[in-house]
Amino acid sequence: MTKGLLISFEGPDGAGKTTVLERLLPSLQAELSVDVVATREPGGITIAEKIRDVILDITHTSMDNKTELLLYMAARRQHMVEKIVPALENGTLVLVDRFVDSSMAYQGYGRQLDKSAITWLNAYVTDDREPDLTLYFDVPSEIGLERINQNKNREVNRLDLEKLEMHQCVRKGYQELAQLHPERIVCIDATQALDLVVKEAMEKILTLVKGN
Ligand code: TYD
Repeated sequence: MTKGLLISFEGPDGAGKTTVLERLLPSLQAELSVDVVATREPGGITIAEKIRDVILDITHTSMDNKTELLLYMAARRQHMVEKIVPALENGTLVLVDRFVDSSMAYQGYGRQLDKSAITWLNAYVTDDREPDLTLYFDVPSEIGLERINQNKNREVNRLDLEKLEMHQCVRKGYQELAQLHPERIVCIDATQALDLVVKEAMEKILTLVKGN
């Protein structure tokens, strides 16, 4: 058994989860006596960041959906082995920007790949390690896409170019996952003002950490 806690940040594009994570991190580090580390998927370590570049490359328009799924899984496996598991074994609180639910929401619901295959692959690459808590930042697809378009500093990746319909399927996927796993997934209304979203996320994390 690992000693640390694993918390994933999930949501459709434009939900603001990355911004929330960046805002939270210093306060959490100040508040808690345990080490806190933030990381992201796909990526987090050199090999997985290279896989990320392959997946998100805007010129890779011919990428097959199953190839894409397996690349996310390969990146996740390496990230687990090299970074997440060692950190958890040290008792570190690990905050991960996207994790297993992204594969189900995007590849399962969005791309409509076989959900049981994704469940199996997620379990395989994580050795059955699920997050202790998942913060799901919920936002209607139109608002999420609008936010992305307004954020001029953000690089446009291949997946941003998908149609609204795909983004709506992803959101529906997340909502279903939240209903299926209420013991783990907490839904946060990401249309609220950023300060409120950060406050709510902070409260959920502190409740988990202090209860353990
Ligand atoms: P990310 O950098 O988190 O994008 P954003 O900043 O918009 O949240 O992730 C890049 C893209 O990868 C994002 O569109 C979601 C997608 N993704 C999947 O489709 N499946 C996965 O398993 C993961 C981890 C990400």
